Amino acid sequence: MALNLRPTKLRHIVSAVDFDKPFIEEILDLAAWMEKKPRDHTPLRNMIVATLFYKPSTRTRGSFESAILRLGGGNISTENGAEFSSAVKGESLEDTIKVFSGYCDAIVLRHPDNDSAERAARVATVPIINAGSGTAEHPTQALLDLYTIRKRHGQLQNLRIVFAGDLRNGRTVHSLLRLLALYPQRHVTLLSPPELRIGPEYTQFLNNKGISFSEVGGFDAVRPQDVDVLYMTRVQREYLPDGALVDAESSYTLNRSFVEQMSEGASVMHPLPRNSELPTDIDDLPQAQYFPQAYDGVPVRMALLQWCLCS
Ligand code: NCD
Repeated sequence: MALNLRPTKLRHIVSAVDFDKPFIEEILDLAAWMEKKPRDHTPLRNMIVATLFYKPSTRTRGSFESAILRLGGGNISTENGAEFSSAVKGESLEDTIKVFSGYCDAIVLRHPDNDSAERAARVATVPIINAGSGTAEHPTQALLDLYTIRKRHGQLQNLRIVFAGDLRNGRTVHSLLRLLALYPQRHVTLLSPPELRIGPEYTQFLNNKGISFSEVGGFDAVRPQDVDVLYMTRVQREYLPDGALVDAESSYTLNRSFVEQMSEGASVMHPLPRNSELPTDIDDLPQAQYFPQAYDGVPVRMALLQWCLCS
């Protein structure tokens, strides 16, 4: 019988709640190193990482798979697990994770259930990396967002941050807010239509951290000169009842003249994909950082994979 050679304490990435400043800084520093890594730095050779995606993804799956290959690893993938895995035959997430634990060295999971990553980590015998769990969390996106912010602003603190859009259902906002609130901030503005306001657990969290914040309903309540980081999100249509959208969208559409009045060193970010909230005529302005942000997914995910599997 083969010996179980796996580490006794697995390094899962489940929730931003689990991260502290030393961990964040370790990952961001490692990501910076990964951008210039020698080609023969391939610590994942002879390892296989599975990317199990039960919900659509372009950037997250693409950048994880790129990161795996750049580190010399192999990849097995299901890009439409909801339709093409045994989930269709009634298999539980837990059973799929137990089976895949025998096929690979780590599992990157995107799943519609808010508690999917916790449930997977409970039964896995390899590290689980949460690549988006329902409307709850997207911790690796939050780390790459921090990486982009640190590169551009030189720090993660004393910022004036505006989160705009679907703050109720946007999982990237939930994870990023938790991480930015580990650092003292000048002010956080939560800009959303009333029906898409952030949940009370997050405003409570900001209160507990002593971070000054306000909730507003549109861009007319924000002075562009007072924004360092504007983090846009789309309406999460797939989580809303039909018809609840039209009003919601128009009240927080960004326009070019707002961005032109922001300081040149400020950032407009967006996890993408975008809809009408972020018009393409902003793309050529120096504040537009969403494509560099998307590229940052690869080095940050390389850093996370190395941390989970090789340290
Ligand atoms: C986001 C996601 O899937 O949560 N995109 C991403 O991962 N880069 C944002 C979204 O779907 O709106």
